[in-house]
Amino acid sequence: MGQDRTPTKRHPIGVFDSGVGGLTVVRALRAALPGEDIVYLGDTARVPYGSKSPRTVERYSLTCQQFLLDRGVKLVLIACNTASANALPALTAASPVPVIGAVEPGASSALAATRNNHLGVIGTLGTIRSSAYAKAIAARDPSAKLTTLACPLLVPLAEEGWVDDDVARLVARRYLAQLFAADPQIDTLVLGCTHYPLLKDVLGAVAIELAGHPVAVVDSASAMAEAAKEQLGSGANRRSLAGRLDCFATDTSRLDELAPRFLGEPLTGFELVDL
Ligand code: DGL
Repeated sequence: MGQDRTPTKRHPIGVFDSGVGGLTVVRALRAALPGEDIVYLGDTARVPYGSKSPRTVERYSLTCQQFLLDRGVKLVLIACNTASANALPALTAASPVPVIGAVEPGASSALAATRNNHLGVIGTLGTIRSSAYAKAIAARDPSAKLTTLACPLLVPLAEEGWVDDDVARLVARRYLAQLFAADPQIDTLVLGCTHYPLLKDVLGAVAIELAGHPVAVVDSASAMAEAAKEQLGSGANRRSLAGRLDCFATDTSRLDELAPRFLGEPLTGFELVDL
């Protein structure tokens, strides 16, 4: 069991997500900490988490985290925003190693990027309903004005690979028009979902078009990778050899097609696990 081992810098970092979208976090993590070994778990049999109740998301997330702890990880990254928003306290309480969620780093990056303190956050229904970003931002800066919106159609668009065409632009415009109608002064948009980095260009362009002024786009995947680097400090594995990536999934349907889209490079494959 993970609890019986004291992790050293040579132990891997564990990353889990409801599915393959969390590979956007792995991609950012590999860029920030190339020497680290990573164990990735995608709970593809139970995806999506975004439409499920907080209790179910918490229950699923605890089993995912335990799988990683049993593999002796030194740090857990909850790549899934929905899981981070709904299960961080339970996951932190159950883990002997540090746990980093997506929300806190995303909130900090957004506040660092904004010039006028008008922020927008988009995510799944579960993330937006949890108010986790609102709480994290208010805790850091009570004067910040936050507008949030659930954008459920963006996940299937990203999975389909429709990320830079007319359909993507139309859907982005339909959602973001609501966001900017609620607060036309938003100057920073947080992509609070694993899948949205794939749509970053379209979302950024549409946001600027609707706002009529520059809009910074913050993706929580990059923010998490930076938070992991900071958390590990001298405990990071800084060897020159590229780290291993071991991927596990609870269902393997469509993974060969989907996973490289999110990771941005070919993948050697997933091992099927039953949680
Ligand atoms: N991984 C989820 C998130 O970041 C998106 C997919 C899902 O709904 O499970 O919120």
